[in-house]
Amino acid sequence: MNKDISKILFTNETIVERCRELGAQITADYAKDKAPILVSILKGSCFFLAEVAKNIDLNVELDFMDIASYSGTNSTGNIKILMDLDRDVNDENILIIEDIIDTGATLKKVKDLLESRGARSVRIAALLDKAERREKEVEVNYVGFKCPNEFVVGFGLDYDQKYRNLPYIGVLKEEIYTK
Ligand code: IMP
Ligand code: MG
Repeated sequence: MNKDISKILFTNETIVERCRELGAQITADYAKDKAPILVSILKGSCFFLAEVAKNIDLNVELDFMDIASYSGTNSTGNIKILMDLDRDVNDENILIIEDIIDTGATLKKVKDLLESRGARSVRIAALLDKAERREKEVEVNYVGFKCPNEFVVGFGLDYDQKYRNLPYIGVLKEEIYTK
């Protein structure tokens, strides 16, 4: 285990197994509809995207958005699109792939944006859900795991851009971010 981690919450095996279940559920849910475009929010969701997409038995497309969020002046939070999708989403089924939903501000904005562009449907899959921290009401259609209110890293999730490559999800030692 990495020395900066105090405990492992979800092992790689547990995550892989859960992504298998989510993939099967997504496959069944879209089976009679147009296959979705999986919209991965960079960079944190790339491991989750890869793991879940392997288990979706539909001709999905993959696309990416990079977003910066701030909550400074505006209590609702604001997002800036650093990298936009390659394609038009009009009449498409969109499945947003996110690493973690915390306050919900980011996902609410992204969902509203894609709906305003004419998507047929916009659903959300998040590997982790920190439900305790929610401020914006936003439905998460597929949740990997409920996450305790602790700062977690690994399997795509970072602290200061590091620890994304850990194969598991763990709690970061407080001394790392308080020093
Ligand atoms: P929200 O807009 O508050 O829901 O913020 C979600 C974003 O905050 C995620 O995409 C992550 O980048 C980041 N985030 C929230 N909690 C954690 C955590 O425990 N570890 C790493 N990143 C986190
Ligand atoms: Mg993120």
